[in-house]
Amino acid sequence: MPSIAQPLEFPRPQPTGYPRLENEPVFDAAKHLALEMPTQITRLDALGYSEETIAACPTDLGITSTFRILSDEGAACLLEVARGLSPYIRASGERVSRSVRGGVYQSQFLRDFCMAPELTEAISAMCGAPMHPHTMPHQLGHLNYNPLKVGENVDKWHVDTLRVDFVLFVTDPNKIEGGEFEYFNGTADEVRALKDAGQDLPEDKIMQADIPGAGYGVLQQGNMVVHRAKGLREEGERITLVNGYVPADMSYPDYTRFDQLSLVDPETIAASEYARHIAWMGRESLSTQLQDFDFSDDRDGFAGQLDRVAALLSGAAAQLRATEKIKMDHFGD
Ligand SMILES: [Fe+2]
Repeated sequence: MPSIAQPLEFPRPQPTGYPRLENEPVFDAAKHLALEMPTQITRLDALGYSEETIAACPTDLGITSTFRILSDEGAACLLEVARGLSPYIRASGERVSRSVRGGVYQSQFLRDFCMAPELTEAISAMCGAPMHPHTMPHQLGHLNYNPLKVGENVDKWHVDTLRVDFVLFVTDPNKIEGGEFEYFNGTADEVRALKDAGQDLPEDKIMQADIPGAGYGVLQQGNMVVHRAKGLREEGERITLVNGYVPADMSYPDYTRFDQLSLVDPETIAASEYARHIAWMGRESLSTQLQDFDFSDDRDGFAGQLDRVAALLSGAAAQLRATEKIKMDHFGD
C-alpha cells in the first residue's frame, strides 16, 4: 500500500542574504495559470531504462512534449519578477554561470506560483503519481539566465539533483537565436559510456524541445533524463525557470544529491534545507506506519519498517558530516 506523505509547509524563518522584492505582482492562479496537458509523454522504457530501474522510480515518466503553464499575463509577471531578481544572479557551481536560487524566499509571487495547488495537481496527473512541491526551497523556482558570453552553454549535459521538475521558458525563445533545451534520447549510462570513451553524443539521439513561446515548458524525471541548455548564438535575453517536486509516496527512497547541492548553495542553506527535508521524510514515514498499524506476528516486517527510517536518518547524518572533497557531476558541453 502506498504511504502518502502530507506536504511540508514553507519554512517560517527567513534566511539572511535573501531580501524581499518590493513592488512585485501578486500571483493569481485564475489569471496567471493557463495549464494544458502535454499531448505526448516519452516513458523511461522508451529511453532504454530496464524494468528493474523503472520499478525503483516514483513515476515511469521520462519527459513530456511541450505544454502550456502560464497565460501571457502570467508569463509577463514572471519575467518582471525574474528581472527584479537579477541583482542576485550568481554561478551555480561549474555548470551554470548565471542563476538565481532561493528566489522563493525573496519573491512571494515566485513562491505562490511554484507551490500553487493547481499546478501541483497537474504535475501529479502527468506523473500518474502524487507529487508535492519540493520541500527544499532552493529546489523551487530555480532561474537560469543566459551567460553574458555568446556561445557559452546555459547549462552542460547533466542529470538533476532531484527527481521530478519542469523547465519553463520565462522569455520567448522565438525572439532569440539559440538557447535550445535539449535532451538525450537514451539513458544516463549510455551518456557516461560515450563521454568516458571521449565520444560526442550522436546527433540523431539529441532531441530539442519545441517551445512556442514564453510560458511553455516540459516536465521531466530530471535525474533520469540527460539534458542541457545551449548557449545563445547572438546577444539576447534567455531566462528559464526550473521547479522541483518530491514524490508524496514515502516508499521510494530519498533522492537528494546533498553532495552536489553543497557545491552550489550557500553554507547556511544547503545543510539546513537538507536536514529539514530528511526530518520531514522521517516524520511522514513514521506517521504512515502509525496510520497503517495493525496487529501482527511479523517481527521482521516491523523491524524492516523501523530500519528503513533509521537508515534514512543516519544516512543523511553521515552525508552532513562527510568531509571528502567532491566534484560537480556533469557530462560536459
Ligand atoms: Fe537540469
